[in-house]
Amino acid sequence: MPQKIRVGLVGYGKAGKAVANVLSTDPRFELRWIMRRSASGERQTHPDTDIPIVGVEQQSFDELFDLHPVDALVDFSSPESIRAYGEEVRKRGITLVSAISAYPEDYLAYARSLGRDTRVMCSPNITLGINFLIVAAQLLRKAAPFADVEIVEQHFRDKPEISGTARKIAETLEVDAEQITSLRFGGIVGHHEVIFGFPHQTVRLIHDSIRREAFGTGAAFALEQLAGCGKGFYTFDDLLLGVMRTELLNA
Ligand SMILES: NC(=O)c1ccc[n+]([C@@H]2O[C@H](COP(=O)([O-])OP(=O)(O)OC[C@H]3O[C@@H](n4cnc5c(N)ncnc54)[C@H](OP(=O)(O)O)[C@@H]3O)[C@@H](O)[C@H]2O)c1
Repeated sequence: MPQKIRVGLVGYGKAGKAVANVLSTDPRFELRWIMRRSASGERQTHPDTDIPIVGVEQQSFDELFDLHPVDALVDFSSPESIRAYGEEVRKRGITLVSAISAYPEDYLAYARSLGRDTRVMCSPNITLGINFLIVAAQLLRKAAPFADVEIVEQHFRDKPEISGTARKIAETLEVDAEQITSLRFGGIVGHHEVIFGFPHQTVRLIHDSIRREAFGTGAAFALEQLAGCGKGFYTFDDLLLGVMRTELLNA
């Protein structure tokens, strides 16, 4: 049996908790600890496990890396965390999977610089399904540039802004943002649909988010793929296209 990848998780909010559920139950990984901003009071652990939850205000990253070494770090916290662990990750050659959605430009440049010394993947959208949908839509767009393209996104009633994912799809397919239709009703977690209108047929690519655990599945995919990569800065697309290329060559 191959050795488990030892992982540390930064961020234990809405997304981090779901990611911890996935990584702590996947036999490919050993989730060794979880870091959040503050873990006051009694010793905390992730439910039904003895995985400790520590606060960055209580313990530094270098102490934690010394006491409980990891092969990889998964970040679902906030943009500034990378400044706290970046140099330790660089020095120790720890793989980094960052899901932070909105890094300021200089933070992203810093993340890229870490790629000179270790493996780094940053993805503002880390679900396997949406990334697959985007790649598939790109392929169809190339094959049929004459087809009409419409993008429909549906979310819970109170989501105010147009989905960032829908904007990214429009940008990638080089269609106007006006082709996005946003619907708001009920408690929909996230629905994205790309519709290709041909003269004699219609193709619909649909992704529905069901639970936040999907972020954990994406992080797990990235961790496994990065283990086979050299040092460098990667996007989710790079990893996904790598798998597709290998599969097509072996077909
Ligand atoms: N790429 C994707 O597909 C994707 C999907 C979901 C979320 N995200 C990103 O993930 C991040 C978290 O989202 P969320 O919805 O889970 O937010 P959240 O519920 O506010 O949770 C944030 C977590 O990060 C911790 N944290 C914040 N700053 C920290 C620091 N400097 N050091 C250590 N821990 C820190 C917080 O600690 P406390 O609990 O102690 O406050 C909390 O546990 C955001 O950047 C979001 O954009 C990305």
